[in-house]
Amino acid sequence: MKISGRTQLFAIIGDPVIHSLSPAMQNAWMQAAGIDAVYVPLGIAEEGAERAFAGLRGLGLKGANVTTPHKERAARAADVHDVAVRKLHAANVLTWENDGTLVAFNTDWAGVSGAFDEATPDWRGKTQVALVIGAGGAGRAAVWGLAEAGVANVVVCNRTFPGAEASARLVGGMAVPWAELGEAFANADVIVNATSLGMIGKEQFDWPIERAKQSAIVMDSVYAPRETALLKAAKARGLKTIDGLGMLLHQGAMAFELWFDQRPDIAVGRAALEAAFAERT
Ligand code: ATR
Repeated sequence: MKISGRTQLFAIIGDPVIHSLSPAMQNAWMQAAGIDAVYVPLGIAEEGAERAFAGLRGLGLKGANVTTPHKERAARAADVHDVAVRKLHAANVLTWENDGTLVAFNTDWAGVSGAFDEATPDWRGKTQVALVIGAGGAGRAAVWGLAEAGVANVVVCNRTFPGAEASARLVGGMAVPWAELGEAFANADVIVNATSLGMIGKEQFDWPIERAKQSAIVMDSVYAPRETALLKAAKARGLKTIDGLGMLLHQGAMAFELWFDQRPDIAVGRAALEAAFAERT
């Protein structure tokens, strides 16, 4: 890679970003498309983050991804917001226009629908009921993505019920108490885990996978480990599964498209992600 004064600068902004797989994916896409740009991790701690965000304006970045804990802050800092940012109050993509205007987008929702489209192209026609578990940023994005994809009934189940209600309300969906998770599994055509349950170092959980329909598709937003306990149990029952790299890949593809006005090669991005992931683990 040759870096010159003309090289456009992109970043992933978050804390921590040291383990982010996005630089491997975005740099691979930029290189494959012959674009003179580079994508770097930019760690910004929570403390002093407002000042750091203000400073980004003069730094000459063309665009950035934003991850935990700055997605809400990024939405607040922007001058212009797409419809998903306005609804979800969180941004994972930023662009700086030539006049300094900061534009915020949310493509996390497209990570969900894009991953379903890639893994099971006919899922839209077959999905009457989608269950989203979790109501944080990832959960709200999943709810939005499923509704955007045309799913008529989006059901949200969250440990804390008011969170489920707020998330379901975004799309006219239904909130279900945590105690009724098993029943929610039984009624769903697709199931998305958008909690941190199952992540390395976080709490594990005994999912009621035995209640799921034999035709259900199970997606996990967690990708460390790649095969979570939920996906393992679903596979053991012969259900179709989609791992968390799919969401990462497709939210990133839409970010690339927003920055460069062209679709990146999904296979190139997936190969870069797989290689970076293998190296990391
Ligand atoms: P993100 O932005 O990645 O979605 P978040 O906003 O912190 O992260 O949301 C985490 C989600 O995981 C929430 O839905 C949370 O449930 P609560 O709203 O009740 O906090 C869920 N979660 C985290 N730990 C959990 C646990 N041990 N059991 C059930 N749900 C859990």
